[in-house]
Amino acid sequence: MSVRPLIAGNWKMNGLAKESAAELSALISKANDQGEVGCDILICPPALLVSQMATLAEGSAVSIGAQDCHTQEKGAHTGDISAEMIADAGAGYAIAGHSERRTDHGESNEVVKMKAEAALRAGLIAIVCVGETLEERENGKTLDIISDQVKNSLPEGATAANTVIAYEPVWAIGTGKVPATSDVDEVHNHIRSDLKLLMKDAEGVRLLYGGSVKGSNAAELMAVENVNGALVGGASLKAEDFWPIVETSL
Ligand code: 13P
Repeated sequence: MSVRPLIAGNWKMNGLAKESAAELSALISKANDQGEVGCDILICPPALLVSQMATLAEGSAVSIGAQDCHTQEKGAHTGDISAEMIADAGAGYAIAGHSERRTDHGESNEVVKMKAEAALRAGLIAIVCVGETLEERENGKTLDIISDQVKNSLPEGATAANTVIAYEPVWAIGTGKVPATSDVDEVHNHIRSDLKLLMKDAEGVRLLYGGSVKGSNAAELMAVENVNGALVGGASLKAEDFWPIVETSL
């Protein structure tokens, strides 16, 4: 089954309005120069920039997403942002359960699942992140941890159209370390098998790899069976670094 790849940039807590607009504009113009693009392109800026970036990207090949959302539609949750607000701001995606949120904010699989369900409720595509720590990998627990996260974070009502899974080994994020392609292959195959037990159209779900993806290693990673795109941190901040990654999937 051919699955349209998704190349996604997660800007994390980086970028002010002016420079972000300039980078997004540069990315859009590269996509425009390309004409027909064979993959979906996504940028997830900090929440405060979602509205501005969505306006800038309107009508282009680049979609905009949020890095997180609250589980509830509205209410007394000071400082939080609902999936409905994100959709209202013009975004089409929300990341749920990035390892930095699982760690920094103690988000459990249960909370991640609720956030992904909130994203679906608002009509967004949920990108559910999973990944093992170095200790878990060294103790041979990777596949068990991934299965547990997939099974317990997957939103109710997940389909290939509304849910994406991102495999991001925690030890590969921002470190320059990348797993062997055979290890990525093993985990992605495992996720695909798990999904087949959990949903009907599992074959069509985009499985992204994330963790130190760069222009220099992207082609090799994207060639792995069951890798249907990338979730990119540092190398997504500048259009000139991100575009070569997009190009591997055009
Ligand atoms: P880096 O690409 O900076 O390693 O970050 C990966 C990531 O966490 C994307 O969500």
